[in-house]
Amino acid sequence: MNVVILAAGMGKRMQSALPKVLHPLAGKPLLRHVIDTARSLSPSKLCVIYGHGGAAVPEMVGQLANETGVAIDTALQQPQLGTGHAVMQAVPELDESVPTLVLYGDVPLTTSASLGRLVEAASTDKLAILTVEQANPFGLGRIVRENGNIVRIVEEKDASEAERAIREINSGIMCIPTAHLKKWLAALSNNNAQGEYYLTDIVAQAVADGVPVVSASPSAEWEVAGVNSKVQLAELERRHQLNIANALLEKGVTLMDPARIDVRGELICGRDVVIDVGCVFEGRVELADGVTVGPHCVLVNAKVGAGVQIKPFCHIEDAVVGDKSQIGPYARLRPGTELGEDVHVGNFVEIKNSQVAAHSKANHLAYVGDATVGSRVNIGAGTITCNYDGANKFRTVIEDDAFIGSDSQLVAPVTVGKGATLGAGTTLTKDAPAGKLTISRPKQMTIEGWSRPVKTKK
Ligand code: UD1
Ligand code: CA
Repeated sequence: MNVVILAAGMGKRMQSALPKVLHPLAGKPLLRHVIDTARSLSPSKLCVIYGHGGAAVPEMVGQLANETGVAIDTALQQPQLGTGHAVMQAVPELDESVPTLVLYGDVPLTTSASLGRLVEAASTDKLAILTVEQANPFGLGRIVRENGNIVRIVEEKDASEAERAIREINSGIMCIPTAHLKKWLAALSNNNAQGEYYLTDIVAQAVADGVPVVSASPSAEWEVAGVNSKVQLAELERRHQLNIANALLEKGVTLMDPARIDVRGELICGRDVVIDVGCVFEGRVELADGVTVGPHCVLVNAKVGAGVQIKPFCHIEDAVVGDKSQIGPYARLRPGTELGEDVHVGNFVEIKNSQVAAHSKANHLAYVGDATVGSRVNIGAGTITCNYDGANKFRTVIEDDAFIGSDSQLVAPVTVGKGATLGAGTTLTKDAPAGKLTISRPKQMTIEGWSRPVKTKK
């Protein structure tokens, strides 16, 4: 099968410099949703028609083709003279021995199951249209039937009053026998209210040529909903998020409110996972069995082990959290953080590019960056690894069972030996030997006979 995705339109109502099809839905450009769905049908040819927005659309497509190793052609439609004219730009690419499926780059949520039914209905020799009955069909092409058979499609602006009363609409998505398509496209005219070459006019040609025209319908109306404005984009985002939430609930995940979760990527959950309200998941996030995520957390490309508790207001990105760990509230795990089992990271603790081994704790107000922390280490409140001298970064090594007193600075590169203790307030610039107390604090003293200054009267 050939797939042609129409994505040349301007999208004026988006009120944006970004081409419409590049606006994200669930963190992914609209067009990418359509390409991903198309790819699930294993087309032999995939061609994206672009126009408005300059190089941005073919750049995105090229990047995607590189990432996935799938060949995707692009064809420029300039100027944009209608949907029929758009498909004409793909004609040289189309293999006549297989049907052509036309999709829209701004209709992101069509399921591959519905497209599969459409393609099946078309078989090799029929024209099949994805249609839907709509309570308010205003603005859309109407499916005109005679004795139950589709005879043509009429656009809103060209329709008679009787035709405007028709509620069955053209989604725009069609599957067409390719040799016929080429012939019909060549015969299109722009003699209509908008002066455009309408793809929809091929329907009347099919009827005249005796090619059967059939329809298939999607499982839900939102599958064929397009995005023309930010309002419609927001509506589809909510619809999509609710679908994702429902799928998570079906798999046994507890969502405190399925209307208050945002998944912009892939969220993989084990059994008995509980997610509180207001959480955002981006990229690929894995939550193992028994994980609880408190309210208002953001997790990006994270792997969270079994039984982990993430308390409210945490930000976790490109990080691995070991089983039974406790994170937050208000913790930040930055890229390259790898926590072992039963690690405790408390409020206002930031960890970056560091490994922290099992049973270690940093419970309050600390920065741990570029560090290798052993097991059962206790990092006191206010501890900072000084990993950056303004030009270069250095590592701090804290060995097993070390105890870092509060408000210490570890000036990297530096090592705290196994079982070493740092006194509170230590500025560590040389290695601290294992098993000993190291302290860099000036000795406390008391000045006898000192009195506070008093104001001198003028
Ligand atoms: C089209 C259909 C209409 C259908 C509606 C569904 C035609 C003539 N009409 O309406 O029957 O109910 O879609 O939304 O086909 N595009 C291009 N190049 C162009 C024009 C459009 O690539 O020259 C792309 C747009 O980017 C968009 C899609 O085609 O992805 C549909 O265009 P749009 O203008 O939104 O649809 P209409 O023509 O109004
Ligand atoms: Ca549209």
